[in-house]
Amino acid sequence: MSEHSHSETSAPNSSWALVTGSTSGIGHATAVGLAEDGYSVIVTGRDRDRAAETRRSIEAAGGRAIDLVADLGDSAAVRDLVAQMHDAMDGPLDILVHNAGGGGFAPTESTPEEAYDAAFNLHAKAPFILTGAFAPAMAERGRGAIVNMGSLSTSMAAAGTAAFQASKAALSMMTKSWTAEYGPRGVRVNSVDPGFILTPANEGIRDMYGTYLASLPAGRGGNPEDVANAVRFLVSPKASYINGVTLTVDGGKTAVVPM
Ligand SMILES: NC(=O)c1ccc[n+]([C@@H]2O[C@H](COP(=O)([O-])OP(=O)(O)OC[C@H]3O[C@@H](n4cnc5c(N)ncnc54)[C@H](OP(=O)(O)O)[C@@H]3O)[C@@H](O)[C@H]2O)c1
Repeated sequence: MSEHSHSETSAPNSSWALVTGSTSGIGHATAVGLAEDGYSVIVTGRDRDRAAETRRSIEAAGGRAIDLVADLGDSAAVRDLVAQMHDAMDGPLDILVHNAGGGGFAPTESTPEEAYDAAFNLHAKAPFILTGAFAPAMAERGRGAIVNMGSLSTSMAAAGTAAFQASKAALSMMTKSWTAEYGPRGVRVNSVDPGFILTPANEGIRDMYGTYLASLPAGRGGNPEDVANAVRFLVSPKASYINGVTLTVDGGKTAVVPM
């Protein structure tokens, strides 16, 4: 496990990181990576078995983790998660990664109201409640880092994804809102916008995207570690002058015009 010398978001044994949606994909890789960086990690998702798997892979590598199950689409469950974390942690929460996400896509006229609410509850309201629960204490300590997991769809549209995209864009704006609110007291807030990343969420369309992915400047689709590494950098002291930005991790997709 590596040690940081800087005081900001350094990772002594009792410094905790919450990674939502760490039972799978990008969140799993981020939780494992932050544990390697020395943080004790709260692993969370809805799936109890996969939560325990992530915890075990952290422990097998010599790290420390606790798995707590919560449906972040339900505000009461989010508040309960906060209470469980306070009981479980033996030190401050210095890192908050709002990564949990997903949901189906549908044309606006056939998106059920419940699906619209679910998207906003998961991508915007849960991060809002969690940040409200933990950022004030970070600000009081004068250190902490928050990363919001966005998507290219925070800035680029695709038909049939309005509820998903608008909810992700709401979270993206909170990166700036929280930078204004907590930045002056030592809490850095940034976003990561992944492109196409090979995770269980889109394993099913991997073949469909083969040729397209090979045509990206990077020549391949991304893997969860590509995104996790961006998060690890943004929460580290190496990013100490980076506030309120979006780091796009898309293999160059949005930098070039498709020909
Ligand atoms: N993969 C990509 O190409 C891509 C591109 C752009 C953005 N992203 C974003 O990156 C993030 C991670 O995506 P991924 O590809 O790693 O997806 P994934 O493998 O499907 O993982 C999604 C994670 O979110 C959790 N989650 C979903 N709904 C939840 C809920 N209601 N309550 C609590 N946890 C919930 C899941 O936990 P459980 O299954 O245990 O509930 C899982 O751990 C998402 O925010 C996604 O929008 C991904």
